[in-house]
Amino acid sequence: MCGIVGYLGKRQAAPVLIEGLYQLEYRGYDSVGIAVFDGKKLRVVKKTGLVREIETARQAVGRVGIGHTRWATHGDVTVENAHPHTYGNIALVHNGIVENAAKLREECEERGEAFYSDTDSEVIAHLIAAEYHGDLLEAVIRACGKIVGSYAVAVFCEDEPERLVCARMRSPLIVGRAKEGLVVASDIPAAAEEGAVLYSLEDGEFASLSGDEIFICNAAKSKIKKEPIEFSEEGRADLGAYRHFMRKEIDEIPVVLRDSREEIARNFCFSDFCKVLCQTEYIQIVACGTAYHSGLCFQAALERVCRVPADVFIASEYRYMDPIVRKGTLLIAISQSGETADTLAAVRLAKRRGAHIAAVVNVKYSSLARLADTVLFTQAGREVAVAATKSFNAQLMVLYLIVAAMASIKGKRSPTLKGFESKAARAIAAGEAVQSWVPYFAGAKSAYFIGRGEDMCVALEGSLKLKEISYLPSEGYAAGELKHGTLALIEPYTPVVAVLMRRDIAEKTMNAVHEAYSRGASVFLVTCFEEYCGGKEITASVLLPKCPPVFSPILSVIPLQLLAYYTSLARGNDPDKPRNLAKSVTVE
Ligand code: AGP
Repeated sequence: MCGIVGYLGKRQAAPVLIEGLYQLEYRGYDSVGIAVFDGKKLRVVKKTGLVREIETARQAVGRVGIGHTRWATHGDVTVENAHPHTYGNIALVHNGIVENAAKLREECEERGEAFYSDTDSEVIAHLIAAEYHGDLLEAVIRACGKIVGSYAVAVFCEDEPERLVCARMRSPLIVGRAKEGLVVASDIPAAAEEGAVLYSLEDGEFASLSGDEIFICNAAKSKIKKEPIEFSEEGRADLGAYRHFMRKEIDEIPVVLRDSREEIARNFCFSDFCKVLCQTEYIQIVACGTAYHSGLCFQAALERVCRVPADVFIASEYRYMDPIVRKGTLLIAISQSGETADTLAAVRLAKRRGAHIAAVVNVKYSSLARLADTVLFTQAGREVAVAATKSFNAQLMVLYLIVAAMASIKGKRSPTLKGFESKAARAIAAGEAVQSWVPYFAGAKSAYFIGRGEDMCVALEGSLKLKEISYLPSEGYAAGELKHGTLALIEPYTPVVAVLMRRDIAEKTMNAVHEAYSRGASVFLVTCFEEYCGGKEITASVLLPKCPPVFSPILSVIPLQLLAYYTSLARGNDPDKPRNLAKSVTVE
């Protein structure tokens, strides 16, 4: 996923573009670039690395321009592959994937056109240049008609320097009035300011921005009237007194739990959703990454509390497995961004096969929120760090509220969700103790997280957190499964974290702890049972407040989020911007 910005208006464009790119850096930071028209020529500055690498371009003169921050999909991380891409009188920035790029490029090369990059995006500049006969909007519409895949583009033409043209297909794009001019952005934070009026383009829509006019249309150039999107100023994130967004966002978990619970209580019509739940015979859950792990926790609770069958699918698997969608299937998609391509594709497939779609999503104007039949919003606020933390806890709160609603329909008793905000605050305070664990992890060759039932789901999430921001090989594992092979990897001092929040299987999990300990592992414990913290096989532990075991992942994940954060720091990484990753993966 990448971030694109565009500006034309009364201000100098370069600072507006650069500030916007800082707000979009969470979408990718392999390379960055801007192009500003100085009245005669288009000045392009492109660098690999973070947005700060182009601070020198802030002085560029000109009131119209485009900018881009890249997460590499096609083509290595090089300056040549950085956007903006140009050909002839055309310059553009692109977010998405051109699936037929090779064929289109071949056609261009057969016409004698030369390429300087190995990206799919550069092909789009050639397509537009070939279709340009004095009307940029017409040229962009025609060029996009040849593309198979996804795109959000902002296009500039030196022959029409007072104009920007945009197009959207399965990659988010916003246009509007702000910053004393007209703006284009992949996401609200790059355009949000007091008094801004912003519109979200839908798939297949185009926009022409010039002077003070925004013309939005379809491929037939029929004008489309749009309502402005609502957004709040806090869409622009700031660090406050924190070093990193990730640490700040972990501290926000208690408030996020409260807000998510209150949002559902205040604004969600459970009675309508209960009608759906009453007709539900079977639940399918689809998600990716951390959201997939919250789906696993949800399934465990649904089956244990409500005795309702449910299956969880990795979205990128679901969409290619020819899924069986029987009558009475409810598909619940979980996504922080609401823009994950694999999750959206799985939802579209299930919808075509007749499933009722419910979405648990954090971003109000996202594609998933618009696609679903029923939407339950988490109130995690903007999550800037690439590693999901507070959004995971917020998803669990909303999913467990569904469990409670389903339980009452099925005549089952659900444990209470009251008091989790204060318990989470205590878990954060207790979790700070993991800083003493870091020396065992920072220099380790690998690390293992084990648990049973819900504790295993949390072990999987703890492992993903550690991997994605500390780059330490790690595995989350069913505690009972360790002895069936993976135990061979345990060596003296290998760090193993056991999650133990259920008394009825505590001794069983401790069996796995003993197995690892007797092979020399350094074992760490996250538990609410004090009696297990002092054993000789435990190097260190975090004692959490007691809570209903089936809902315990809301708390037991917190020390693991903190462990990943502090280990990442110890290994010299930037926890907010881990290598190779992006906040939302809007490509397949
Ligand atoms: C989480 O730490 C990861 N950054 C990643 O796995 C993420 O959860 C996944 O890409 C799904 O994103 P979504 O929730 O926005 O759909």
